[in-house]
Amino acid sequence: MVHITKARLAAGLLAALFLVSTPAAVNATSDWTGDTKLRAGAPLVIGHRGASGYRPEHTLASYELAARMGADFIEPDLVSTKDGVLVVRHENEIGGTTDVAKHAEFADRKKTKTIDGAPLTGWFTEDFTLAELKTLRAVERLPQIRGRNTLYDGRYQIPTFQEVLDLRGKLSRELHREIGVYPETKHPTYFKGIGLDLNPKLVAALTAGGLNRPGAPVFVQSFEVGNLKSLKHQVAVPLIQLIDATGAPADFVAAGDKRTYDDLVKPDGLKEIAGYASGIGPAGTRIIPVDGSGNQTTATTLVADAHKARLKVHPWTVRNENNFLPVNLRTSADVTAYGKVWTLLDQFFKQGVDGVFSDNPDTAVAARQEFLDNN
Ligand code: G3P
Ligand code: CA
Repeated sequence: MVHITKARLAAGLLAALFLVSTPAAVNATSDWTGDTKLRAGAPLVIGHRGASGYRPEHTLASYELAARMGADFIEPDLVSTKDGVLVVRHENEIGGTTDVAKHAEFADRKKTKTIDGAPLTGWFTEDFTLAELKTLRAVERLPQIRGRNTLYDGRYQIPTFQEVLDLRGKLSRELHREIGVYPETKHPTYFKGIGLDLNPKLVAALTAGGLNRPGAPVFVQSFEVGNLKSLKHQVAVPLIQLIDATGAPADFVAAGDKRTYDDLVKPDGLKEIAGYASGIGPAGTRIIPVDGSGNQTTATTLVADAHKARLKVHPWTVRNENNFLPVNLRTSADVTAYGKVWTLLDQFFKQGVDGVFSDNPDTAVAARQEFLDNN
């Protein structure tokens, strides 16, 4: 039985009052800063697609493990079903992360589509109702690298966003700390174009869950710009502009806007981002680049530049295996073996990042503790 303290009851009443009295257009004024047992300003650990180094990504098992490993946030990527329900997948094409190809009844759903300007063949969430998607089971995306995770193939459903929020609440109560949620809208321009706008559903879910308020343990992220600018007027939680290693936001490309991610990390770009977002989520190589051979070179000034623009910095994605590490941090030619990921985490923490996305939250939590103990 859940014990509700007077303080928690009062906080709940205040939150309810806020929801009733606050207009839709509100700005994020305070960011949730993580476990109060940690030093103020300690970098956050964001469980990337849950604890996807150990379980098939974007499953409730992956999110639960991330929370139990100490992650401050769990990270669901959001796409839509045919009947307009938000479900969590890294992309709307689900051939690589589910057993859909084995379902003969869905063979005729295989299609070739153009997503964000690129042709893609497979099965797409927007062609399935939620009931149909629930008959599928998740599988490990990277069986060649994460063979052990295939132990869990076929065991977990595709979760809805609501199920992730419910899990977040349950684990927060059980673990006696707020587990944050860090949703990313995937392909928002594409989904809006087919009549399945992600943003209203996201806003509704956060609001219904009492999470659309300043100080809620939530960040909302996107690689696109327009939908974040729109969300700024609809949510009271901080927004994070994702910055890819190369290329340009898909909505810029669609609108003929020639600016790229390279432009967004220049001082003028950061200043513009600060007008609608609270931080950036750059590819890690935007902070510590690699040369043509894959070896790390000198760190950029991005963290300092972003902080100067009053933006938080949450780089992605730290993964333990050699396959994903810079060449100089690999321990062998075995791509499945763990490399010197501790060094990479330490480098990011020393750069002053405000959080890291990691597929291995236990490692990131341990490295953070060591960093905090020594600095
Ligand atoms: O959202 C941060 C990071 O997850 C962005 O990359 O492609 O894994 O969603 P991706
Ligand atoms: Ca993501």
